[in-house]
Amino acid sequence: MLPSSSHAELIEKIKGGYKLKSKDEMTPEYYEHLVNLLTQQADSELAGAIGYTPWIAKAPTVKEKLIVSNIVKDEVRHAKVIYDLLEELGIDVDAHVAKHNFEFRIDDTATDVLKSTRAADDKRVNIFYYPIDTWADFVMFQTCMDRGAGHQLEDVKLASYEPWAEAIKGIFKEEMMHVHHGDMWVKTIATERHDEAQAALELWYPRTMNIFGRPNTTKNRIYQSLGLKHRDNDAVRTAFRQEIEEIAAEVHLTMPKWTPEWEKVEEDGVIAG
Ligand SMILES: [Fe+2]
Ligand SMILES: [Fe+2]
Repeated sequence: MLPSSSHAELIEKIKGGYKLKSKDEMTPEYYEHLVNLLTQQADSELAGAIGYTPWIAKAPTVKEKLIVSNIVKDEVRHAKVIYDLLEELGIDVDAHVAKHNFEFRIDDTATDVLKSTRAADDKRVNIFYYPIDTWADFVMFQTCMDRGAGHQLEDVKLASYEPWAEAIKGIFKEEMMHVHHGDMWVKTIATERHDEAQAALELWYPRTMNIFGRPNTTKNRIYQSLGLKHRDNDAVRTAFRQEIEEIAAEVHLTMPKWTPEWEKVEEDGVIAG
């Protein structure tokens, strides 16, 4: 690894489009941020796969049981690909995974009760702590969360760590297939059992809006300077929201109200000024 003293030089190289290929080219600062982002992704993929498994048994048809099985396999593969990158960076992945319970879900199903509070000490994105209780939830999760993840992965395709950017290409394609599967079902359910689709949207849309984080954070600016993200959190969220608005309009679902947590706090006067 390079010394911290060469960090400014590394940022300049990255600004010029340079892609890193191994740990030898990283400074401790770059390494720490990269490991953090990779762990968030890998833990989310694994928690996602495990949360889906009951839906192999509960899927409505044999064809759907096979589709769900394939989605579970995709998600475990995504986890493995990203954990392999972490292993190459010297992380003891099996020890990390053994320390956490990836089956854990919270009992409280209020829309976005967690907000930015962590429910456990693995690094999965908060939305993966919520249980998936109905088939409408299962498919709405894909329409919302897989789509949200897809927008985030658009940035990873450009990441300054080349092995990550390469690995994302295949993962991205599979996530788009999951989104397509979710959209197809959401449209069917919205037509046949409108209230069920509306209830699922009320749950999963606000939760997904919360995955992107606050606008204009110091952390996001650091990630951008390191070439590990390319847009502000809010720009990614807006791209996601616009697509959901189009789908909702198409099948006559009402867009749920979403007030960002940070605005709620400011309305309450807690951090105002
Ligand atoms: Fe995935
Ligand atoms: Fe997925």
